[in-house]
Amino acid sequence: MPQKQNVTIAPAEGKLGVLIPGMGAVTTTFVAGLEAIKRGIGQPIGSLTQLATVRLGKRTDGRTPPIKDFVPLAGLGDLVVGGWDIFEDNAYEAAANAKVLDKALLDQVREPLEAIQPMKGVFYPEYVKRLHGTYVKGGKSKMEQAEMLMDDIRTFQSSNGVSRTVMIWCGSTEVYHSAAEVHASLASFERGLAQNDPLIAPSQIYAYAALKSGVPYANGAPNLTTDVPALMDLARERQVPICGKDFKTGQTMMKTLVAPGLKARMLGLHGWFSTNILGNRDGEVLDDPDSFKSKEVTKLSVLDQILQPKLYPMLYGDLFHAVRINYYPPRGDAKEGWDNIDIFGWLGYPMQIKIDFLCRDSILAAPIVLDLVLFLDLAQRAGMKGIQEWLSFYFKAPMTAPGLYPEHDIFIQLMKLKNTLRWMRGEDLITHLGLEYYD
Ligand SMILES: NC(=O)c1ccc[n+]([C@@H]2O[C@H](COP(=O)([O-])OP(=O)(O)OC[C@H]3O[C@@H](n4cnc5c(N)ncnc54)[C@H](O)[C@@H]3O)[C@@H](O)[C@H]2O)c1
Repeated sequence: MPQKQNVTIAPAEGKLGVLIPGMGAVTTTFVAGLEAIKRGIGQPIGSLTQLATVRLGKRTDGRTPPIKDFVPLAGLGDLVVGGWDIFEDNAYEAAANAKVLDKALLDQVREPLEAIQPMKGVFYPEYVKRLHGTYVKGGKSKMEQAEMLMDDIRTFQSSNGVSRTVMIWCGSTEVYHSAAEVHASLASFERGLAQNDPLIAPSQIYAYAALKSGVPYANGAPNLTTDVPALMDLARERQVPICGKDFKTGQTMMKTLVAPGLKARMLGLHGWFSTNILGNRDGEVLDDPDSFKSKEVTKLSVLDQILQPKLYPMLYGDLFHAVRINYYPPRGDAKEGWDNIDIFGWLGYPMQIKIDFLCRDSILAAPIVLDLVLFLDLAQRAGMKGIQEWLSFYFKAPMTAPGLYPEHDIFIQLMKLKNTLRWMRGEDLITHLGLEYYD
């Protein structure tokens, strides 16, 4: 990336449509929060687009504008949300069932939530075995279903008068599967859609519909979706930005905070055992071993990349890393995650760190949804297409160009994000070298 670049960014004029497959805990917490913030009865805590600043120029220049003043983002009042689910509940009912937010707060935003009635979802139970969707589209083939979704997108856009649209998957975690022949090219994928290939997941049908409609797509779950050649090619061909996957919220966020610090100090690691109790619908879905496998793969990948055991075999070559999620209904969305970390220091002497994080999953995820919506829309207006690596900050398993390892260190990810914003606006990138202050 060159130091300075003049990127033309189209203005954020008109309304921005936000289409969300999966109107469960995360989505309803996001939408209720949006309405509460618009009414001044809540604050957008955890959102970089709403709260963070970006330093420009030298430390002595004193220029640190809020991100939202530095780049042209859509305003919260311009967002219009719609979506799909496999159950008929409107967003108020779904939020009440999810039990993340207090009834008193929900009742203050009841009207706009009740107005969000999901469209019928595209669903194949073999992809989410614990759910038995009753509000689903028919259609003779997956291609026909993709066309129905494209119709839904067009109808939503015209009836709400939106000028741009973004799609973000907040649906359940689908079972683990890896890319196959049908995903290898757009032609084989389209053939697969027409022939109902069982290896094409519902989330991939939504993603195809979005990209064909010129709508940017983010994947908040760990399952395979746009991370296949067919859909990456389609995104580039249609000039649409994509990103994923799996929102980086509770335990993995802690991991990407702590692990870079231990490594920075060249402290060794013998073992890292992570376990969770979780009682919401996401926890129920993840109780199925095949859905959990998708999650496990994204959660486990983090440490290996941060610690680079091949470069530091003495410190990290022997690390035992395990992640468990236990479905425990009494806790609902208020998850508890424990980490036991066995580290060693000078002369190999062992030490332990224990983390007990009583977190609220959807409270941590909602601001990520907001930021991704606004940044993906910005990226599209800036003419950026394909994988948006600068949005890695938000994901457990960031998508990267084929052959490139993902960056998991949250501080490097944040620097990459802010430098990308500086680059978009033709400002100097910040390297933290700092020698100029001592010349
Ligand atoms: N902090 C977090 O909450 C967090 C973090 C990382 C990832 N995620 C992922 O985000 C997703 C949403 O989490 P959640 O807690 O809101 O789960 P949830 O179970 O409350 O909501 C998921 C919704 O998706 C619906 N759904 C399932 N398949 C669908 C389909 N094919 N089409 C349309 N709708 C469909 C379900 O009916 C449900 O309402 C999950 O995949 C979860 O793993 C959540």
